[in-house]
Amino acid sequence: MSATAQKRAPTPSDIKARKGTEPLVTLTAYTTPIAQLVDEHCDIVLVGDSVGMVLHGLPSTLSVTLDMMILHGQAVARGLSRAMMVVDMPFGSYEESPQQAFANAARVMRETGCAAVKLEGGVAMAETIRFLTQRGIPVMAHIGLTPQAINTLGGYLVQGRGEDAQRILADADAVTEAGAFAVVLEKIPASLADDITDRVSIPTIGIGASAKCDGQVLVVDDMLGLFTAFKPKFVKRYGSLGQDADTAIATYAAEVRARTFPAPEHIFADKAPEKKK
Ligand code: KIV
Repeated sequence: MSATAQKRAPTPSDIKARKGTEPLVTLTAYTTPIAQLVDEHCDIVLVGDSVGMVLHGLPSTLSVTLDMMILHGQAVARGLSRAMMVVDMPFGSYEESPQQAFANAARVMRETGCAAVKLEGGVAMAETIRFLTQRGIPVMAHIGLTPQAINTLGGYLVQGRGEDAQRILADADAVTEAGAFAVVLEKIPASLADDITDRVSIPTIGIGASAKCDGQVLVVDDMLGLFTAFKPKFVKRYGSLGQDADTAIATYAAEVRARTFPAPEHIFADKAPEKKK
């Protein structure tokens, strides 16, 4: 069932069952008003740890905390009624042990009401994914470019080119076998994304991957053109809200300086106008 036809939020099992059918539409959201806007159009809304860079001006996702993810998760939950909410596990909240991951993911689910968590990593995280899924925590995996690992990957580089493809294929197999219900493929060659999509039994959600993935995800601020400092190659801008906002703010500033705002219709008289009988 498509996002526009469904009456209730899909579950992770519904999403898994969509493999190879209608493409899964995913966007990030970090606030209630944006969640309200994307809800009607998306199957999945991701409270991504990209919130740290997009809303908090951090240089990377590495200093995003569990408390930040929970606060934004709660805000997004208030804006959703149809889409499924997934919340990112931030760096340092799950890698140490499956037990650490369970305690923190259970807190995220309890305090935000999300249907699932997302975590980065393939083979190295398979044991943790298995531990979580066997204990009632659905996991969306994230492989390829994993931004929490930029310091070991050497930056935001395309992953899986040439012989490195074998590593990404092994990651895809490992997270599928461990029980993830879907996997994000970030910034890998399109042919590799297609091979993975054909090979694994769970939906692939591409970002900088391939149009043949089972779904796509973008950072909502990027695609709206709100976050204008930098545009990765894989982002298509569907709007230019940053420019619109700049024009609106400049006009407001000019009108305040010219004392043309507030105008008579924005101010109050001493006496309230008499009510018509
Ligand atoms: O943090 C995020 O927004 C993400 C998506 C871009 C996949 O992980």
